[in-house]
Amino acid sequence: MDKLVIEGGRELKGEVRIAGAKNAALPLMAAAILAPGQTTLHNVPDLVDVGTMAEVLEGLGISVDRRNDAMALDATTITSDTAPYELVKTMRASFYALGALVGRLGRAKVSLPGGCAWGPRPVDIHLKGLEALGVKTQLDRGYILADARKMRGCRFVLDFPSVGASVNLLLAAVAAKGETVLENVAREPEVTNLARMLIAMGAPIEGAGTTAFHIEGGHSLNAVDFHVIPDRIEAGTYLAAVGRAGGDVTLVGANPDHLSIILDRSVEAGLKIAVRNDRIRVQSSGKLHPVDIQTEVFPGFATDMQAQWIAMMTGAEGSCLVEDTIYPDRFTHVPELIRLGANIAMRDNIAQVTGPVKLVGAPVMSTDLRASASLVIAALAAKGRTEISRIYHLDRGYERLEEKFAVLGAKIWREEDE
Ligand code: UD1
Repeated sequence: MDKLVIEGGRELKGEVRIAGAKNAALPLMAAAILAPGQTTLHNVPDLVDVGTMAEVLEGLGISVDRRNDAMALDATTITSDTAPYELVKTMRASFYALGALVGRLGRAKVSLPGGCAWGPRPVDIHLKGLEALGVKTQLDRGYILADARKMRGCRFVLDFPSVGASVNLLLAAVAAKGETVLENVAREPEVTNLARMLIAMGAPIEGAGTTAFHIEGGHSLNAVDFHVIPDRIEAGTYLAAVGRAGGDVTLVGANPDHLSIILDRSVEAGLKIAVRNDRIRVQSSGKLHPVDIQTEVFPGFATDMQAQWIAMMTGAEGSCLVEDTIYPDRFTHVPELIRLGANIAMRDNIAQVTGPVKLVGAPVMSTDLRASASLVIAALAAKGRTEISRIYHLDRGYERLEEKFAVLGAKIWREEDE
């Protein structure tokens, strides 16, 4: 197992290219299941989670060929209807195979994902929506068995605009004969990216980017060439690193429209931000103001940026409150940040962060993907050496993180952990 070693205290300077979004690539890969023929995705990030989804697809009989950031997926024949526990337990997004297999084969056997480090993470909305579409589901030894022989269009209102449920229901609904109206769907750019790909494949869908989809289901779908949108969370992570460690960095290949609230709050916090097309220049004067945030569904502040914001706010002059309304238990980074010298008090799902503190390097442990990113940010600003163990979490969602930070002038490298 690898660890990351960081000798902090250096400003970050230069340009960093933002990769394609993990959370957009995964649903697009699942959408390839729906179309016989070869789908080619571009701007696919090189990540462990993308590799896991590729394994899920290969298990279904799809050939996967990766060249640089392009991925060819040949789904001419599907030979299995099963997404196994071994893969789904390591990555919840494998559960997207359920909606897509139902759409392509009319049946599926997909392992239930189970909980995760930030709480139970149920899939009840996914299953309720499938039932509304006429798909019979039953639990059999940890697997959801789905029978979609009687699937047909319907009207369904999601209890909560869940990203995952919106993806799964969209993937199934394009195959359900007749009209489907899905209301209270997620407006996250990754869901919109999927809707646009399905439209390009030949599915008549109205409402991409809004809270309701009108889908004319049952059309045969064609394999297409399609681009993954840039990763707004990767961009936000580099931004927060500049905010905490100081410096002047341009994020290249980002989509500022997907980052509106993060850019606005960063300006409030005292960062200088200049946007030109897909380039976002972030400059720090070394001073930060405390800014409260509350995580919300898009276009609100993303829960996937909560941990990085806390790390940045440890440098702000005063106190702020960071509340996670989406995942109330998603604070495993807090005790680790405290080991580096952060002053954070927790009350339920609210962290009170008081700064500025001088962080000092220490051995810490990565607990999940974005928690690990917050430790990297803190370590880059800390005096001395920080060792972050269990960095496989980071490899799930950040492409060549240590190389990218090293190019910006950070002293950061990977070592084998004993
Ligand atoms: C996705 C993202 C994850 C991000 C999250 C919220 C991917 C692969 N992952 O996760 O990085 O943090 O969106 O933006 O894109 N819920 C239910 N029942 C359900 C489904 C969800 O109660 O059936 C609840 C969840 O427990 C949570 C909230 O809804 O409180 C949001 O979850 P959801 O949007 O589904 O997140 P994911 O799709 O799992």
